[in-house]
Amino acid sequence: MQYRKFGRLDFNVSALGFGCMRLPIIGGDEGNVDEDLTIKMIRYAIDNGVNYVDTAYGYHRGKSEIVVGKALKDGYRERTMLATKLPVWHVSAREDMDRLLNEQLKKLDTDHIDFYLLHSLHKDTWDKVYNLGVLDWIESIIKRGLIRHIGFSFHDDLDTFKRIVDSYDWDFCQIQYNYLDIEHQAGMAGLKYASNKGLGVVVMEPLRGGKLANPPDRVREVFDSFPIKRSPVAWALLWLWNQPEVSTVLSGMSAFEQVKENIEIADKSGINILTEEELSLIERVREAYLGFKAIDCNECGYCMPCPNGVDIPKNFHLYNEGVRYNDFNGPRWHYRNEMQESERASSCIKCGTCEPQCPQHLPIRELLDKVKAAFENA
Ligand SMILES: NC(=O)c1ccc[n+]([C@@H]2O[C@H](COP(=O)([O-])OP(=O)(O)OC[C@H]3O[C@@H](n4cnc5c(N)ncnc54)[C@H](OP(=O)(O)O)[C@@H]3O)[C@@H](O)[C@H]2O)c1
Repeated sequence: MQYRKFGRLDFNVSALGFGCMRLPIIGGDEGNVDEDLTIKMIRYAIDNGVNYVDTAYGYHRGKSEIVVGKALKDGYRERTMLATKLPVWHVSAREDMDRLLNEQLKKLDTDHIDFYLLHSLHKDTWDKVYNLGVLDWIESIIKRGLIRHIGFSFHDDLDTFKRIVDSYDWDFCQIQYNYLDIEHQAGMAGLKYASNKGLGVVVMEPLRGGKLANPPDRVREVFDSFPIKRSPVAWALLWLWNQPEVSTVLSGMSAFEQVKENIEIADKSGINILTEEELSLIERVREAYLGFKAIDCNECGYCMPCPNGVDIPKNFHLYNEGVRYNDFNGPRWHYRNEMQESERASSCIKCGTCEPQCPQHLPIRELLDKVKAAFENA
């Protein structure tokens, strides 16, 4: 295993951290974690040098912390830095913070958390917990020895990220970062900003939740055209470890083979080991992902309003997302749960009012049929 600096702390963290949000489950039930397999996977990772395990109050409907607690028995706790997170959305008074932390310590069966995070901060949740005195509370639990280091995980824009970084003397932060998300949320600018201030930076979603492991054909062709052969997972992870500002990369691993493979990749990782040619391959891969639109809609909205209420740009946007990442599950969820029935493709009555307005001359009615087939017939 390779080890890396963790911000200004006197701690060398393993390049690979174990993310416990996507553990193996039984019967497709998120809350039914395969405990035996999970324990084997986590212990194998620790035996092979992983020294950072990340969980959270809500993962696997509350089961992740319990299984992690079991995995860290038999001497494994002493060899591991344990990270978990305060679910800020369950906090409406200071007593909630104490109650939740106590519950977590019990579930994890430990007397302290090494790395504690305010979970998934964005502008509103940060303002809320700040006003509830969370910083004062943090000082008190550090003094009591219940947590050792404090940080936050983040899902909002760069300005909000910088504001939170500057609000307290944090030890570390956790950001969504991978070769597609360099300008999304905190992004590369946020990574450098936090690192420059001495924070350890923990990367989450390095494979975009697994999507980068299974690229669409047009992306695979770009990888295949390169003389050095590596799996898409290896390229994605090595690209992260190439950057000195990244402290550790959390991988959510749902199978034993993934743990083995990711440890092998981590063993070969290092800062600035990728050549110019290899880095430009990743740029071409990024372009192959992001430059591609199955439907050439630029969401200008000239086709709107639809007399029947269909949100044409939104339908095309979600369809393009599905094709771009070769995965319709996420977009289908948004289609079914966030769009009114009248806004969906199936509400098109083929009146054709929209088509003469489209600067791209798209056959909108025909394309809406495609969207409907992708999201409603599957
Ligand atoms: N604080 C927050 O707000 C927050 C948010 C997200 C994540 N996190 C933390 O960050 C961790 C990492 O994020 P993530 O789980 O999204 O990581 P990720 O690495 O982007 O995605 C994990 C998925 O990638 C696939 N995968 C991993 N290794 C693979 C391999 N060698 N070959 C093929 N597929 C592989 C698996 O997909 P399949 O299961 O489909 O095979 C796995 O479930 C989480 O587990 C969690 O601890 C925190």
